[in-house]
This record gives sequence, structure tokens and C-alpha cells, in this order.
Amino acid sequence: MKGELFIIMGVSGSGKTTVGRLLASEMNMPFFDADDFHPKSNLDKMKSGLALDDNDRRPWLELLSEELHNWSNSEGAVLACSALKESYRGILQSKDVKINWIVLRGSYDLVRQRMTERKDHFFSAELLQSQFDAMEWPDYGIHVPIEHQPAEMVSRIKTIFRFRHECRLGLIGLGVMGSQLSRNMLNKDFKLSVYNRYTEQEKDVIDEFIKSCNNDQSLNGFTDLGEFVQSISKPRTIILMVSAGKAVDLVLNELSGLLDAGDLIVDGGNSFFKDTIRRQKNLEESQIGFVGMGISGGSEGALKGPSMMPGGNKGHIIEILPVLEMIAARDSQGNPCCSYIGPDGSGHFVKMVHNGIEYAEMQLIAEMYSCLASKYSNEEISSLFSKWSGSGNSSFLLDISSDILRKTNRHGQYWIDLISDVAGSKGTGNWTVQLAAELGCTVSMIGSAVEFRMLSAMKETRIMLSTQVEKPGDDFEIEDSVLLTAYRTARIINHHQGFEMLRIASETYNWNLNLSELARIWTNGCIIRSELMRNCIDGLKKGAILNDIDILQTVNDSEPALRTAVIEAIQKRISIPGLSSAYNYWIALTTESLPTNLVQAQRDYFGGHGLYLSDDRDDNLVHINWKQ
Ligand code: 6PG
Repeated sequence: MKGELFIIMGVSGSGKTTVGRLLASEMNMPFFDADDFHPKSNLDKMKSGLALDDNDRRPWLELLSEELHNWSNSEGAVLACSALKESYRGILQSKDVKINWIVLRGSYDLVRQRMTERKDHFFSAELLQSQFDAMEWPDYGIHVPIEHQPAEMVSRIKTIFRFRHECRLGLIGLGVMGSQLSRNMLNKDFKLSVYNRYTEQEKDVIDEFIKSCNNDQSLNGFTDLGEFVQSISKPRTIILMVSAGKAVDLVLNELSGLLDAGDLIVDGGNSFFKDTIRRQKNLEESQIGFVGMGISGGSEGALKGPSMMPGGNKGHIIEILPVLEMIAARDSQGNPCCSYIGPDGSGHFVKMVHNGIEYAEMQLIAEMYSCLASKYSNEEISSLFSKWSGSGNSSFLLDISSDILRKTNRHGQYWIDLISDVAGSKGTGNWTVQLAAELGCTVSMIGSAVEFRMLSAMKETRIMLSTQVEKPGDDFEIEDSVLLTAYRTARIINHHQGFEMLRIASETYNWNLNLSELARIWTNGCIIRSELMRNCIDGLKKGAILNDIDILQTVNDSEPALRTAVIEAIQKRISIPGLSSAYNYWIALTTESLPTNLVQAQRDYFGGHGLYLSDDRDDNLVHINWKQ
């Protein structure tokens, strides 16, 4: 690959030389180790056990930058160099060269473990720690996790390189999400073809998009589907960003006839997972892969890095995972918020449940707003939400709600006071409730949020009946801290219910979902990212959120606050279905004997359905002759 430059960077012990040599040999390029370029003075200093400072490094980095310039004018090179600081990297690329930065990433513990295992290698824990302290992780470059084998790391680098050098990616549908995701891919240096249908209303979409990307040379736009397909090298990966439902089938009908065996379609919309399974089966006959990928993060997430949930054939997904990981958000450790989810329609299923959790999270914040509105102004509620967020309860949704509440129009009126209270939906919350019922699991908080939106639509009835009832004073007498505790507890229960649904679905459909990994990829990029999500990871490693002893203790300790909030709100006629379903769920879940013995008896009485007796260990169905 003439003239290409790769710098493999990372702390000592992350495998720079091994990966660099392998990459160089597979790409038929020379390999260099930056350590071999130190001037004698630096070598002497290091030999005497002294650490190099930035002044010592400067001439060495300048020499390397000269070399990089020379290599780029010949056959290119792979260089292993720690390049810990941004200023070092600045010097390395100061001679107007284009560098492919390969960032080897791993935790201190993993690198330490590796170094202690290497018998021939002197290991100094302090030196390693100082490298981690000095490292300024770049937010550009190809980030490669070091837990993989070198061969796999190199294969990932090569995949990304391939997608950067020839157009292998296509995207259909330049709506808000589609265009932002396209920009994200272009920002990561991928070559891309985009297609948007040509209709009277959308006739300028392609031209305007290309213009908005400053005529980026890596981008080609089409309104003819055949030309679009032909512009992409085989095997193609085509991302569909069209509205879920019929539109997806219409595009697939047209597209599948134009594709070749080995091509891959990735549906990035909020499709129903059973539709995804059907589409996968249909396309399999033509050997075209079909991946259902949940994408969360709204417009900003799509541009800066969403959370991505691809599900389907593992082989297909592994092929494109390095590319998806490049455009995904990153968690607090720098790992991509994108993972292989599972087979079938599991990617779309988990996104559906994500949205269900999102509905209940939004509902709870709306209930907090409703409770607080009787005693505080919009600005005050906004400030309180910021305060809550800053004290360990931060979440994307709480933060945007705080922003929303303080936003005024040019007349100084609060937008929130001007917005209709009829809330719509696109259906993923409703599906979550339907599916939960099919699977036999409880998502009462999601259910209450879905129903509340439906109730909000009964505007005329609400207006009419509101004049008929007697209203108590609406001054809400509860300490803010108690309300916060109730809110925090209800959120835990919402997350517990959502993840329990995922656990049950995984068992039922044989998907082998990794719940803690799901929580991890939801810690950034997506709409339900929050500190709580980060705290759920450990409990989910043990199977369920409430299996984490600390979380269980928090809920237990918070029960009185939740109860107080529910009682107070109900007495003041504030509708709080989210809070109260959290409370009811928690009480029932922690009650040994429920009154459902009577429900059993009633069923048997009127329908002869049979019942089970509590002390019958064999679970024999018995029928009682109630009339005798
Ligand atoms: C996301 C959002 C996104 C969309 C919801 C809105 O994760 O980025 O969930 O997918 O905004 O589907 O859903 P409703 O219109 O049903 O509220």
C-alpha cells in the first residue's frame, strides 16, 4: 500500500510491536519501532534509569516526523510509537503527512497482567502507571481493544482501512437520523454512497445533503437505486434508515433484486422484531444478509456517536462490527457502545425494550414536574433537576428536561407552558407492553407510561370532566429530598422490570443475551444513558438488577419515601401512575402471600379451570366442587 502511514500507539505492554509487525507483514509494508530512533543522549539517560522529559523527546519526535515524511513518499510504513500526548502526536504529523492512528486500548489491570506474564520483560508498576497518567487518549483514530488476539486486532484494522479506501457502504433514507449518521460516517473517513427517493417533496434532498457536506469527495449521492447499488464495491453493506413498517418492505423488494449474494442490509430503524425475522428468512434465499440494528441517541447521537444494537447472523455482524464501533459512542472506559446482541431480531427487540424503559423514564420525570409545579416555578424546577442530576442521579433525560423547563420564546414565555399536553408515540412502547404480555412478564411501569400518553389524548373528556370534580388544594407538601428518593427508587424498579423482560425473552427465544453488556452499551450515546445505568452493570452480571445487594438495600431503605410520595400525590389529586406502579410492584414482589389464591378459586368456581394447593409439592391440578 504505497505511501500509507500507520502509527500504532498505546502504553508500554499494549502490544504495539506485535500488532505493528503483523499489520506491516500483511500489508506488505516496512515496520519500524520508534524506540530505535532515539538519539544517543536519550539512550544513555534511559540506561541510567532516568525518565525522559518532553525536552528530551522533542528531537527524537522531530526526527521521526522527518522519517514519516520520507516513508510517505516511498512505500509507506507501520511505526510503533507510544505517542502518549497530543503534543507528541502533533510533532509526528507536523510534516504535512496523513497518518492512520491505531490506538491500542486496554485497562491498566489488563496491561499489567500481560506484562507480568511476559517472562523476558522487566515490569515496573510505577512506569506503567505513569504511562497511563500521561496518556491523552485521542478521540480520533482507529481504537482497537487489546483483549483480542493480535490477528483479530489486525483484521479489524484492515476492515476499517478497506471501508476507508473503497466505497463499501451505502445508506438509504436521508431523514434526520439517516443524514446525521451519514455525516458521522464521513467524519470517520469512510467512503459512502447515499440514496434518497426522488419525489416532488424530496427532489432536492440529495443535492442539499451533498452541499451541506461541503461536497465531501468521499460522498456520492443518488436518486436512482440501481446507480446507487452499482457505486458500492462488493460485498456491499447498505444501511436502511427508513420509517419502520411498510416502507422497509417496499425498499427491500426493490433493493434485493439489485444486490448480489454476499451483500448485507442493515435495518437501522425501529422495526418490529418479528418483521426483522421474516425479512431475514426471505433474504437468506438470495444469500443476502439482513441485520436488524437498534440505533439510539436521536439526531445528536447519530452524528456524534449513537448506541448501536445489531442483531442477526453473528458472522455477518462480526464482519462489519469494526466499522460500526468506529461510529458508535464510547463508554467511560473508551469502549464502543456497540456489541453483537444476538441472533434473529434480537437487535430490534432490545431496542424496543430500550424505548419502553425510555417511556417510563420520561413519565417519571413528568410526574416529578407535576408534583413540583404546585410549589415551584419552571426555573426553580429546572434548577432542582440540575441539582438532582449533579448529586448522583444524572441522566440524559433529566438533563434535557431541566433545559426544556427554562427555555423561553422571544416574548419571555416559557415554552413548556405553551406546549399541548397531548403526547403522541410511534409504537415501540406499545409493542413492549404487548410482548411483555406474550412473554408473561411484568413491565407495569412501561405500561403505565404508555397508557398515560393514551389518556393524554382524551383531551375533550378531560376538559369536560375536570369541571365536575372537587379538587383539594394542590400545594404539595413533601420535602424535595423525599421526592428525589422516590424518583430514584422508581427508576431502579423501571430498569429492573425492563431488564427482566430482556432476560425472559432471551430464555424464551434462546438468544443468550448478555444483559450487563447491554447495560454497558446503554451507558452512553443512547436516550436512556444515566449514572443508574452504569450502576446496573454489576447487578446484571449476577442476573438481575435487584441481585446487587447495594441496589436492593437502596430500594429497601427508600420504600418509606416512595410510599410518602405516592400518598401525598394521590391526596393532592396528582396522577402518578409511574410512581404508584413502582410502589405496587415492589410491595407485591416482596410479599410472600398474595391474594391470588382467591383469583385461583374464582377461576375454578366459574370455569372449572382447576387450581393448585399450596402444600402440594407435585403441583397437581385439582378441581373443587364448589356447589356441593
Ligand atoms: C432513541 C429514541 C428514538 C425515538 C423514539 C421515540 O432511542 O433514539 O427512542 O428511537 O425518538 O422512537 O418514540 P416515540 O415517538 O414512540 O416516543
